[in-house]
Amino acid sequence: MLRIDVITLFPKMLDGFLTESILGRGCSAGLLEVKVHDLRRWCLDKHKKADDSPFGGGAGMVLKPEPVFAAIEELQTPGCKRIYLTPDGVRLSPSIAKGLSKLEHIIFLSGHYEGIDQRIRDSVIDQEISIGDYVLTNGTLAAAVTIDCLSRFIPGVLGEEKSLTHESFNGKLLDFPQYTRPAEFRGIPVPEVLLSGNHSEIEKWRDSRALEKTRSVRPDLLT
Ligand code: ADE
Repeated sequence: MLRIDVITLFPKMLDGFLTESILGRGCSAGLLEVKVHDLRRWCLDKHKKADDSPFGGGAGMVLKPEPVFAAIEELQTPGCKRIYLTPDGVRLSPSIAKGLSKLEHIIFLSGHYEGIDQRIRDSVIDQEISIGDYVLTNGTLAAAVTIDCLSRFIPGVLGEEKSLTHESFNGKLLDFPQYTRPAEFRGIPVPEVLLSGNHSEIEKWRDSRALEKTRSVRPDLLT
C-alpha cells in the first residue's frame, strides 16, 4: 500500500479532499493511506514561526529550514520519495503520476508565498513538481491535485480499469463527447449513431469527434 505524508501550513485545506469521492473510497478500502501534517508541529520557537524575510532583501517571506528538516527527518523512511510542490518544478504528467503510484512512500512538502530556503531543496527534497504554469498561494492544492492524479493509477481505486484507457491524454487525443439518458432533453437529441448499437460506427464517430476537439482546443497535441 502506498503511504503518503503531506506537510503543509494549511492542513484543513485537505479535509474534504481526503474523505470524499473516489479518493476517499480508495483510502477507506486500504489502497492508499494519506496523512496530513501541520508544519507548525515542528516549529519549536515560542511564536511557532515557520517563515522569515529573505536574506539579500526583497518582498515576501521564506519558509525556514529548521521545521521542514525536522518534519522530513521524522517522517521519512528508507527509499521514500520527498517531493516539493513548486511552480518551477517539472510539470506533472500522466507518466510522472503513474511512476509515483508505484512507490511505497511519498512525502509531499507544500511551500508557500515567495518560496522556501534553498537548503531544503538541496538537502531533503528528491523531486520538484509543478501542476502548471500558474502560481497558487501555496502548494497544498498542488499536492492534492498530484495525489488525486496518481491515485487513479493505483489498481482498484477507479471502479473500472477501463475508464483509464479511453481517456484524454492517455492516447494523445482529447476525449469525445459523452451522452446519457434521456435520448432527447429540452428538444436536444443525442447523436443518432450512439443509439444505433453499431459499435464500429460508434467507434468511428468517437474517433472523429476526438480529433476535431483536439484540433480546435489543443492542436499542440497533434504535432
Ligand atoms: N505552488 C504554487 N503554485 C504551484 C504550482 N503551479 N504547482 C505546484 N506548486 C505550486
